[in-house]
Amino acid sequence: MTFFTEPILAIESSCDETSAAVVQGREVRSNIIASQIEMHQKWGGVVPEAAARAHVEAILPVIREALSAAGLQLGDLRGIAVTNRPGLVGALSVGVTAAKALAFSLGIPLVGVHHLEGHLMSVYGLPEEIPVPHLSLIASGGHTELVAVWAPGDYELIGHTIDDAAGEAFDKGARLMGLGYPGGRAIQQAALGGNPKRYPLPRGLRGPTRDFSFSGLKTAVMRLVDTEGAALSVPDAAASLQEAIVSVLAERVLRAADELGFETVTLVGGVAANVALRERLQAGCTQSGRRFLTPPIVLCTDNAGMIGLAGSFRLARGDRDDFSLEAQANDALFGVDE
Ligand code: KG4
Ligand code: ZN
Repeated sequence: MTFFTEPILAIESSCDETSAAVVQGREVRSNIIASQIEMHQKWGGVVPEAAARAHVEAILPVIREALSAAGLQLGDLRGIAVTNRPGLVGALSVGVTAAKALAFSLGIPLVGVHHLEGHLMSVYGLPEEIPVPHLSLIASGGHTELVAVWAPGDYELIGHTIDDAAGEAFDKGARLMGLGYPGGRAIQQAALGGNPKRYPLPRGLRGPTRDFSFSGLKTAVMRLVDTEGAALSVPDAAASLQEAIVSVLAERVLRAADELGFETVTLVGGVAANVALRERLQAGCTQSGRRFLTPPIVLCTDNAGMIGLAGSFRLARGDRDDFSLEAQANDALFGVDE
């Protein structure tokens, strides 16, 4: 499989990070991320209108910085890749409009990238060969999907969440425990030294399913916080919540890999930044003789580097979009709408 050998600019603005990257082949030459987290902390979550406006302010400086960190100028670019789906339409439109304007004025090819394909392709930012087929877990704030990657561009959905995403379970749990937004890293920090067995929390769907359910966990944490009141041990509650999420994710992935005969497992998406989850899957894969690959954390949480890797693959394959490219709120990468 080949990647586009010339430098391309990638843009990501689907949610609350404005990001631009320069990618050449499989090399991420620069990856600049402007986070809106501080702004959204005030409201405890992402406010779409505010997010779109913040992208407008950040997009040009972020592009300029990505070029300068790669030691390039606009004229050196040979392609533009941009996340155009799925996500907040107002937020996505900022990146799509900038990408179209650049591709038009520079006279270079443009390709729209599916955000989840960006996450799936983020493993190509690792230096080693990436075996296909492999089984990938995408765990982020909006998605929890178990995907068979037969080859780049050829994906099959094996399992998915029937309600909340894994990242949402971290975020909502953190909010209930008064740990703020975004919750994943806060829970991970608070859980250090906590007892994961202190508070029994539900594990969602039982039995031989490959799907996930996290909404019961949120309700259980709500009840726990209510009943314990001031007596609640936040480290123990955080450790118990992290354990509930990590154990379900790892169990489903390892069982599916076993049943379907995958020799390689990959972990991508914002929740892949979770150290306990990385360690659990690494240990499970080592034990069962599988290879486990997960990108460096900067390529796990939303970033344009992963969009550039997917774009580099798509441009090399000859995929092109014209200037009718539009932001789309929803689009199924796997043949079903999530
Ligand atoms: O992929 P991402 O940056 O954005 C989406 O596409 O949704 O994922 C964001 C999610 C948030 O829910 C955040 O709490 C979670 O990833 N996250 C973590 C950690 N770092 C970020 N969850 C658990 N542990 C972490 N260290
Ligand atoms: Zn994402």
